[in-house]
Amino acid sequence: MGMVTLREILKDTREKHYAVGGFNMNSYEDSEGMIMGAARKRSPIIIMTSMACVRYVGLKALVGMIRGMADTYNIPVCLHLDHATDLDLIKACVGAGFTSVMIDASKKPFEENIAITKSVVEFAHTYGCSVEAELGKLGGREENVEVADADKAYTNPEDVPQFVEETGIDALAVAIGTAHGFYKAEPKIDFPRLEAITKITDCPLVLHGGTGVPEADFRRCVQMGMSKINVGTQLKKDYTDALKKAVHELPDSEYDPRPFMRPVKEACAQAIMAKIDIFGSEGMA
Ligand code: 13P
Repeated sequence: MGMVTLREILKDTREKHYAVGGFNMNSYEDSEGMIMGAARKRSPIIIMTSMACVRYVGLKALVGMIRGMADTYNIPVCLHLDHATDLDLIKACVGAGFTSVMIDASKKPFEENIAITKSVVEFAHTYGCSVEAELGKLGGREENVEVADADKAYTNPEDVPQFVEETGIDALAVAIGTAHGFYKAEPKIDFPRLEAITKITDCPLVLHGGTGVPEADFRRCVQMGMSKINVGTQLKKDYTDALKKAVHELPDSEYDPRPFMRPVKEACAQAIMAKIDIFGSEGMA
């Protein structure tokens, strides 16, 4: 097992009605906690990094660390670059051993989105690396991705076959009513739109903006054929809440950093295990 591509990790999700979680990491503690949680459930996992996270941890350290954890825990792990717009960084990540990248040209006009995505697919596939792209524009804010409410746009099902065919992508992110970051009001998922998209394409579909989506909506999306579900913001909060609690509870005399960081790992493991239960990926490793 160990590191696998996005295409490989998602290949029987639709047929077997489960989704694989894509979780945004930021450091050593949360990534090990996530992979540990997935291993306890014998579930595959997609570890996602933003462009800022790659720069923060460092490319070589990041790939070496995740590869080491994938081997240690012996479950399928996909290392995925999330929402990338910087083509040089994409190339560097592919060359360094990422097994999946997302090119996000969703803000460009349709034909330009196709051309940019296609060029990334041509490059990445020569290295055996998968590619995710986005059609439509998800609202909200996360890291370097920000779309104002007025600019958000749902995925048009009729655009999907041409986009998938001409680009050669391995997974498609769809905009069906979720948004990045914490919601101000409960999200309203456009299920008829999702149904129309699943009918028109076999390409594995990706739901972004998983933080705050009600459990019943997740389950319905998975039953309808969603293959990958992204969660980021909630995990950042779980991480910092666990750290704040440890700082509050440990004696002032404690100076070893590890007692502060162990609860962070465990909090991330618990968060991932709860999502695996909802996404139905337990035992699929
Ligand atoms: P949230 O931060 O809203 O969970 O979204 C994560 C995501 O979609 C990353 O691409």
